[in-house]
Amino acid sequence: MNIDWNNLGFGYIKTPYRFISHFKDGKWDEGVLSEDEIVKINECAGVLQYAQTCFEGLKAYRTTDNRVVCFRPDLNAKRMHDSCQRLEMPVYPDDKFIEAVIKTVKSNIDYVPPYGYGATLYIRPYMFGENPVIGVKPADEYQFRIFTTPVGPYFKGGVKPITIRVPDFDRAAPRGTGHIKAGLNYAMSLHPIVDAHKNGFDENMYLDPATRTKVEETGGANFIFITKDNTVVTPKSNSILPSITRRSLLYVAEKYLGLKTIEREIPFEEVKTFKECALCGTAAVLSPVGKIVNKDTEILLPSGMENMGEVTKQLYDTLLGIQLGKIDPPEGWLKEII
Ligand SMILES: Cc1ncc(COP(=O)(O)O)c(C=O)c1O
Repeated sequence: MNIDWNNLGFGYIKTPYRFISHFKDGKWDEGVLSEDEIVKINECAGVLQYAQTCFEGLKAYRTTDNRVVCFRPDLNAKRMHDSCQRLEMPVYPDDKFIEAVIKTVKSNIDYVPPYGYGATLYIRPYMFGENPVIGVKPADEYQFRIFTTPVGPYFKGGVKPITIRVPDFDRAAPRGTGHIKAGLNYAMSLHPIVDAHKNGFDENMYLDPATRTKVEETGGANFIFITKDNTVVTPKSNSILPSITRRSLLYVAEKYLGLKTIEREIPFEEVKTFKECALCGTAAVLSPVGKIVNKDTEILLPSGMENMGEVTKQLYDTLLGIQLGKIDPPEGWLKEII
């Protein structure tokens, strides 16, 4: 193993083991750890024809005292459960999901980056329909898998503020499925993100597709905003992914920092009144936004393009402090791996 922990990007690096379980004749098998990263499936597999697939994303952290912990995997199990139900896929039981995450991380333990490099082991559970399906209907056989890959920052600048834009494209998720983490939702967001990058933006701010007046989320993270009186405001919408990071940040804001939080509809028109804006997610952590472009108009957040806003920084330090074992976590937030 020869990994430069200092210069890790957000990419795939093969690790030795992955967890594989098969669903056949109405039940899941026990599952195994395998060294083979290649998936071989039928040309007519449900996933290839009708995109019957969903996934999750979470991280394992090396703490200051050299433990390895996972952040709130129970919430990923629950969200994958919801994704599977919406896609007519068999649920992988929540307790087995957590067991399988632990097994997979343990078997790749040398790939959990050491403390102090800002790097983590990203964990990707996923499921797909495996048997041939030609009429439009759910598959009968599935695979549930988990692989891991060590990752660094999601955005190149790390914690430097980024620039985003409001695109002409509608919210990428097919209506009503934005709240699950499904392959098809993300495939539909690839064109807008490639176009954003081509035009010099780091991400897209999607507005609600029905009225195009309310803030939803970006392609891979939710939004939080800080008002001039230091309230944390976040969009209420049933077509955005219910971010685990966001739920955690709202708790941290209230219980650790004594801030007021509100989840409510946010008209795009209101964004110019906020003093800070950030993207939150497992991969994005908390990435400050410095500028938002909507066609010919620009919103420059008062926090600027150099540093994280003051409240965003407090939220970031507290959440990361909890994940890295520097600050006492709320009950049940850290699942110990070793
Ligand atoms: C579309 C989208 N929204 C929000 C999030 C953030 O969710 P979480 O905090 O659970 O990682 C993600 C990240 O996976 C995402 O892909």
